[in-house]
Amino acid sequence: MPSTSSTPSLSSTSATPGYPIRRLRRLRRTPALRRLVAQTRLGVDDLVAPLFVADGLETPRPVSSLPGVSQHTIPSLVAEVRRLAGLGIPGVILFPLPRTEDKDATGSAAASPDGITRRALEAVRDAVGDDLVVMADCCLDEFTDHGHCGIVDPGTGEVDNDATVEHYAELAVVQAKAGADVIAPSGMMDGQVAAIRAALDGSGYPTTAVLAYAAKYASALYGPFRDAADVTIVGGGDRKGYQQDPRNGREALLEVALDVAEGADMVMVKPALTYLDVVAEVRRLVDVPVAAYHVSGEYAMVKAAAERGWIDGPAVALEQITAVKRAGADFVLTYFAGELAEVLGA
Ligand code: PBG
Repeated sequence: MPSTSSTPSLSSTSATPGYPIRRLRRLRRTPALRRLVAQTRLGVDDLVAPLFVADGLETPRPVSSLPGVSQHTIPSLVAEVRRLAGLGIPGVILFPLPRTEDKDATGSAAASPDGITRRALEAVRDAVGDDLVVMADCCLDEFTDHGHCGIVDPGTGEVDNDATVEHYAELAVVQAKAGADVIAPSGMMDGQVAAIRAALDGSGYPTTAVLAYAAKYASALYGPFRDAADVTIVGGGDRKGYQQDPRNGREALLEVALDVAEGADMVMVKPALTYLDVVAEVRRLVDVPVAAYHVSGEYAMVKAAAERGWIDGPAVALEQITAVKRAGADFVLTYFAGELAEVLGA
């Protein structure tokens, strides 16, 4: 039977002494050859920058566990977004943060008509128009006094799925009204995509898209994000009751399939590097765009090692984000977006 593989057997085809080593090296000889045959091409178009904006700040506040990342004021956020758009970055995802005294049990400040969510989104939209895709993370943990992503049932102490989903739907409409192009629910509640889609359609925002954090793991790599967002889960708690177990891969495919069936326009896998197998499988499973989130802990590890001179930070950043794309992501949310855009060029 003829072989169906396009790769010749390494042992049978060459008259060249030293084969196959020479053959495999031929196309690696010069930078131009390598460029020509590169299978994965990372470009500025693949990058989305996560940004924090805090209510009541006078000046931007650097986040110590995320070197190069700050909690912004609205004016500094607008300046940063303009800078990123100028570098050719196609999208940002906004994380608005309330004043500590505005946090409560239901995270009511998130959807408040005069709150930071609305003001920040409107300011960004006014500044960049349609030059940049403005995404809004749709979750409550930044706004709840207990730090959970939703409404906690006082009886069980657990997050109440359906009560939470109603709040997400309300928040999504506020975000769409303020100018978000994309709503990105990150709370891992069942049915959140369907509820948000219905609320957007029912409120006159049928063109606002949904990027579902579909396969989001209960990861230890979110630590620096929680510093950046001033989130502490009450009683040393965790999110293992609603985010995925890192030991499970198949479950991610079920989560993704459900979110697409509920109307997700795009799906996300998060974190990125510890779940490249999931990224690859999800890419094969669905036809919608697949995003991966290279999260705060992934960024912080590179920065920390580079600061000590143990690794070449920019080279590792480029290698890691390229690997996420090679695994199958169509775009990557990364705190390296600005730095990479400067290296990659528009
Ligand atoms: C929840 C949310 C989190 C991140 C994005 N959205 C934190 C969490 O689930 O605890 C983490 C992102 C990162 O670590 O960079 N609003």
